[in-house]
Amino acid sequence: MSSNVNFEIAPSILSADFCCLLDEIKQVEGKAKYLHIDVMDGHYVPNISFGIPVINKIRPHTDMIFDVHLMITNPEEFVEKFAKVGADAITFHIECTKDPAALISRIKSLGKKAGIAIHPDTPVEKVFPYIKDLDIILLMSVIPGLGGQKFMDDAPARLSAIRAEIDRQGASTILSVDGGIHEATIETAVKAGARLLVAGSAVFDNDDHAKAVEDLICAVRL
Ligand code: DX5
Ligand code: ZN
Repeated sequence: MSSNVNFEIAPSILSADFCCLLDEIKQVEGKAKYLHIDVMDGHYVPNISFGIPVINKIRPHTDMIFDVHLMITNPEEFVEKFAKVGADAITFHIECTKDPAALISRIKSLGKKAGIAIHPDTPVEKVFPYIKDLDIILLMSVIPGLGGQKFMDDAPARLSAIRAEIDRQGASTILSVDGGIHEATIETAVKAGARLLVAGSAVFDNDDHAKAVEDLICAVRL
């Protein structure tokens, strides 16, 4: 059964087996359009993942949409480099820049989709002034920095508030959600208005990654 609501899954390679990263990506390629790529710098989040050279290496091997989530301080110093190695969408944390509007237009001038991510402690209203200019709003439903955490209880209400404002403004911004998405939570997130569902452990901790994506899609019965 497929849902009447259009939504997409973005498998997050943070939970992939890096010994065979390309093989991991190939397993989800036929099932998902987006690939979520978490970049962590050890400053904004207490963890370091991977960065520009890894994206550069995988880019020629897949046409998936590279949805790059920058969990880094000073994102303005790096967006050009991420654009150059083939990011399709670049999402920065609103907490990490003084001038979100300038960074959005910089990303767009590089020919890329621009996104803002919101930390669970940040009021969602902070993103409202930028909605019309944004391609993606990424609501964090866990504390950024680690896969496999629990979907936060207040995430549905926060998603609904952003959804309502996107609709009120008549914008086409994609509402994305990141953290704790699995079969038991995905429907709630879609119901609350999310349309791009990031899933790391739910996809890559399952031996059959392709089936895991299918199972997530089937778990939405709206
Ligand atoms: C967490 C990352 C997420 C992470 C999600 O900071 O931004 O993208 O991969 O992992 P799960 O789906 O396991 O919560
Ligand atoms: Zn992420």
